[in-house]
Amino acid sequence: MKIAIGSDHAGFVLKNRLRDQLIADGHDVVDLGAHSTVSSDYPDYAATVGNAVVAGMAVRGVLVCGTGVGISIAANKVHGVRAAAVSEPVSARLARSHNDANIICVGERIVGIEVAFEIVRVFLETPFSEGERHIRRIDKVSQLETEE
Ligand code: RB5
Repeated sequence: MKIAIGSDHAGFVLKNRLRDQLIADGHDVVDLGAHSTVSSDYPDYAATVGNAVVAGMAVRGVLVCGTGVGISIAANKVHGVRAAAVSEPVSARLARSHNDANIICVGERIVGIEVAFEIVRVFLETPFSEGERHIRRIDKVSQLETEE
């Protein structure tokens, strides 16, 4: 799967570990930075990865910051992004099956490496359920973007 990955400085180490694992698993990964632990701003990487996913340059996105929260808030400002900040795999699964999330966000300061691997694995493997109620609710979320 084509995956865009990004982080700020606080997510740099975990982002690199996730990137390397995804490549080892056979995914086509584009690393959109950060490229060091020098202080940087999470909205910049949220926008880059969000725009890549919405433009179809990647099927899914993975974002990492210190908590996963700031970078998810920023990513969700990009129209068409449905980013979920999660700290365990059950939420990652439901973010896909109920919310059709296209970006997963995790916090390097919050989750351990094995939990992060599992979150991303579940996020990539879980399909959207396509239930009528879920589609209706996602359509309502999209409608909010036209009201801004
Ligand atoms: C950076 O110090 C930190 O605030 C950022 O990575 C993130 O956790 C914000 O939500």
